[in-house]
Amino acid sequence: MLKINLTDDIFYVGVNDRKTELFENHMELPNGVSYNSYLIVDEKVALIDPVEVSFMAEFLFKIKSILGERKIDYLVINHDEPDHSGAVRAIVQEYPEVQVIGNAKTFGPLEAFYGPLNNKKIVAEGETLCLGKHTLQFFMVPMCHWPESMVTYEQTNKILFSNDAFGGFGALNGCIFDDEANLDFYEDDMRRYYANIVGKVAGQAVKAVQKLGPLDIKMIAPSHGLVWRSNLQWVLERYVKWSTGENEEGVVIAYGSMYGNTALMADIIARGVAEAGVKNIKIYDVAKTEVSHIIGDIWKYKGCVIGACAHYGSVFPNMTLLLHELTEFKPKNKVYGVFGGMSWGGGGVKYINGVAEKNQWECPVESVEVKGAPYRDEDVERLYNLGKAIGEAVKNN
Ligand code: FEO
Repeated sequence: MLKINLTDDIFYVGVNDRKTELFENHMELPNGVSYNSYLIVDEKVALIDPVEVSFMAEFLFKIKSILGERKIDYLVINHDEPDHSGAVRAIVQEYPEVQVIGNAKTFGPLEAFYGPLNNKKIVAEGETLCLGKHTLQFFMVPMCHWPESMVTYEQTNKILFSNDAFGGFGALNGCIFDDEANLDFYEDDMRRYYANIVGKVAGQAVKAVQKLGPLDIKMIAPSHGLVWRSNLQWVLERYVKWSTGENEEGVVIAYGSMYGNTALMADIIARGVAEAGVKNIKIYDVAKTEVSHIIGDIWKYKGCVIGACAHYGSVFPNMTLLLHELTEFKPKNKVYGVFGGMSWGGGGVKYINGVAEKNQWECPVESVEVKGAPYRDEDVERLYNLGKAIGEAVKNN
């Protein structure tokens, strides 16, 4: 079996998932995802986070090709979510003497998922575990992504096993380390991952980065995506940027349209945005594009224009998920616009404006509601002006 070394005695034993269509059964994975795991072979053997359970055969094969008949002494659980912890029961069955390492919040959910564990050890903030040459140290990063989330710092080689933090969507296509990969290729999938997985708790992500700042970190080994050994600054800068609401110049227009009239409005608005001088304009039909992609781009750009037709006195159904996610995630430092159609008695624009008010969106221009198709001059002008105002607000950022 091919061995992938982080160091002479620390190995990458993760797997690539290109078969799962939806991460957490709701986010598309057009480029797959990796579940990373790491094996430290010392006087004691430690496995840092297992993988999703359906990859158990491949995972065990990789472990055994390195260990042979040796046993695993410690299984470190940085995070309980089943994309990592899924293989816990199988590992414990294979290595019955393994001690499972977690923190005070780990074992409640873990045993609720997989049943009682006989041999477990609870570690506290900053506690260490000596393997021989290597010493592991544990730090709590609650809500990055779940309450029990922690990271493991390997003191000898100064490697941070960061679990979800600094991870990204996208299977690892041969390139395991950052200096082997075209980072531009991964950036969109990293941002989409960040926005949809960590974005809601961006404040905690920043605190986690700040807390780990004093550590001398030479390598970041997350549980998804590339291992960072050469471009740590690249990933750290992006995490800070995404967490603090630093935007790029651009506008996302997301619409829901039953018969194409609201879609036409989006095109008129986009023309106004373009004539304001904004070059990055993304238009999404919420009935066609899975919402995590839209959220990923909203996170990226300053401007966001939301529009929908009415549906039974309320809003076009597919728009409600995007509005729910915007309410949950609260992306920072945006300018918003609202538009839509009032046929079928109206209600779509009213619904979106209610969300805007609740979330205190910054709207530099009044919402535009159009009856029927946007063919009348006055409607075209109102829509164009909305786009122009949003474009100018983005340019003046
Ligand atoms: Fe990759 Fe929150 O699990």
